[in-house]
Amino acid sequence: MFPYRRNRRLRASESLRSLTRETSLSPDDFIVPLFIAEGKGLREEIPSMPGYFRISLDGLSGEVRALWSMGLKAVLLFVKVPDDLKDNRGAEALNPDGLMQRAIRTVKDACPEMVVLTDVALDPYSEYGHDGIVQDSRILNDATVEVLAAMSVSHAAAGADLVAPSDMMDGRVRSIREALDGSGYTDAGIMSYSAKYASAFYGPFRDALDSAPVSESGIPADKKTYQMDPANRQEALRETRMDVEEGADIVMVKPGLCYLDIVREIRNAVDIPVAVYQVSGEYAMVKAAAEKGWLEHDAVMLEQLLAIKRAGADLIASYFAREAVALLR
Ligand code: PBG
Repeated sequence: MFPYRRNRRLRASESLRSLTRETSLSPDDFIVPLFIAEGKGLREEIPSMPGYFRISLDGLSGEVRALWSMGLKAVLLFVKVPDDLKDNRGAEALNPDGLMQRAIRTVKDACPEMVVLTDVALDPYSEYGHDGIVQDSRILNDATVEVLAAMSVSHAAAGADLVAPSDMMDGRVRSIREALDGSGYTDAGIMSYSAKYASAFYGPFRDALDSAPVSESGIPADKKTYQMDPANRQEALRETRMDVEEGADIVMVKPGLCYLDIVREIRNAVDIPVAVYQVSGEYAMVKAAAEKGWLEHDAVMLEQLLAIKRAGADLIASYFAREAVALLR
């Protein structure tokens, strides 16, 4: 009899398929990015991210309670800083009453068990939209790391559970670890954006925070001297191993879908949790195609998230977290 092995047997019904399924999504997989802005009663849709909003602090408590009631347990905070508070050195990032610090306290007051992660990089605070301090068209590594370490301590002091350095400066994980420990925040963790590529998929995010990079003379710039070249694979492993050695508690690959080969290699190479950031451009592509009626939104969304998990992600930071979890229930 041919064929002797029939793989279709286990695909015959939904019950059989679900019994033999290798990967599944759950609310425990997700980190929800939130965009916070100054204002009262603000709920401003980001044009290039349909269905995603910048919200003000007064709406944040309700937002995190709603997420918690859906089973979501982690938020990743980003702030849109007013232009007049931006400079080259990110001074406002250290303000104990800055928007980020207030946002952390607001989340913890509303929902103490919600895990709070905070983005650590200078770009929302930088007049040039760069993740580090700019001097003579260069991004200063070591001077930036000092600010990032102080910023991390400030976030921990406000109640952040984990800081998430997204800047790609060299040596920042060790400096942040030492600064946290030296200030008594030994339990504050580090989720390091370890393999973060210089990707064209961050555009909508830069719209959301008004943080597109420019040169000192105001000409559109890129972040290729610190973020990784999309062509590189070995370098991602090197970056990630170094972050583990320097003290990262969770490592992250970013963006998601185009980099799933990297996710699998890193999952096989390290023994700490691996997170993946499905970024703003990935979200925007699905929304745009669905709006045109060219793709089936929910099915494509779940397929992409599942693929990220199957590739080896233990955690997924995604703008789809809420919609996905609503469908999974
Ligand atoms: C800031 C930061 C960026 C993102 C997360 N943290 C933008 C950038 O590096 O330019 C992108 C997230 C997204 O596109 O969803 N360092």
